[in-house]
Amino acid sequence: AKKVILDCDPGIDDALALMLALSLPEIEVIGITVVCGNVPVETGAKNALQVLQWMNRTDIPVYIGEAKPLKRPYVDAMDTHGRDGLGESFFTLETTQKPRTDAVSYLLDTLKSEEDVSVIALGPMTNLARAIQRDIQAFSRVKELVSMGGSYKSHGNCSPVAEYNYWCDPDAAAYVYDAFSTRPELSGKKIHMIGLDVTRKIVLTPNILEYMKYLQPDIGEKIKSITRFYFDFHWKQEGIIGCVINDPLAVAYFANHDICQGFDAFTAVETEGISLGQSVVDACGIWKRSANATILTSVNVKEFFLMFFCSVLGADRE
Ligand code: BDR
Ligand code: CA
Repeated sequence: AKKVILDCDPGIDDALALMLALSLPEIEVIGITVVCGNVPVETGAKNALQVLQWMNRTDIPVYIGEAKPLKRPYVDAMDTHGRDGLGESFFTLETTQKPRTDAVSYLLDTLKSEEDVSVIALGPMTNLARAIQRDIQAFSRVKELVSMGGSYKSHGNCSPVAEYNYWCDPDAAAYVYDAFSTRPELSGKKIHMIGLDVTRKIVLTPNILEYMKYLQPDIGEKIKSITRFYFDFHWKQEGIIGCVINDPLAVAYFANHDICQGFDAFTAVETEGISLGQSVVDACGIWKRSANATILTSVNVKEFFLMFFCSVLGADRE
C-alpha cells in the first residue's frame, strides 16, 4: 500500500476523505496532521480523532499544526461546516487518545526517516509551507503531493476566482507552488492539483446518501448526520439539492490516478488584490516556465462513488 500523511482541516468533507483513506486497500495512512482552516486547529484535531474512533483506528497519531495562516488573519469556514466542523452534530469523543504536537516536525521527521511517503493536503497549505521553510531537503523526500485546492476554469467558492484552501492562506499556497517551480531540491516533482473543476462534479445527493445507509447503516447514519448542515448550505448558496464533497476525490485520485485526467502546467497562486488566492494556470505555456503542477480537469464520477461504496461501506463490486 502507498504510505501517506493526511494534512487536513476536518471539516465535513475532510472527515469523508479520512474515512475513504482508512478504508482503501491501496493506501496506508501513517499519520494525520491538522492545520487551521474550516475550523480552528484544536477543533480539527478533535474531529480527526472522532473519525478515527468511528473507524476503529485510534492507533493512527494525530498532530496539531499551524494555528494561523503565514501572513494574513485567519478566516474559518464554520458557516459551511458548522461550529463544531462536523455539521453541528456535536458528537462526544470517546477515545482517550490525545492529539500530539507538532505537525511540522512530525512531517519532516517522518519524511526523513521513512521511504516513499506521500502527502495529501486537504486544507490550507500552511503546515506544508512551514515544513519547506524549515527543511526543504527533508521535505523533498515526499513521494507525491496531492493538493485539494484551487481551480482552473471553474469559478471560486470564496471569491469569483478563489477556492477556500488557497484563499485562506494564499501566501502558503504561493510559497509551496513557487518552491516546486524554483527550488532545485524539488525539481522534477509536481503538485497534483485536485481543484474545483473536478471536485464540483462529486455531488452527494439524497439518493446516494440513502443508498449509503442501505449499504452500511451505522456509517451511513454518521455520514447523514455530518452532511445535513452541508446540504442546507448548498441549497441556500448554490441551489443544489445535495452537497459537493471535495476532499475525498483527492484521496481517490491518490489511490488510483486513472480516476482523473489533466495536463501539466506552470501554476502560481495570487497573494494580493481582488484575485487573492486564485490559482493561475499557464495552460498555454505563455510564460515558458516548466510545469510544477499536474492540473486535473476531468473525473470518472461513477468510479469515484464505486470506490467509496466498496471500501467505506463494504459493498461488493459486482
Ligand atoms: C475546500 O475547502 C474546505 O471548506 C473543504 O474542506 C475543502 O478542503 C473546498 O474549497
Ligand atoms: Ca478540507
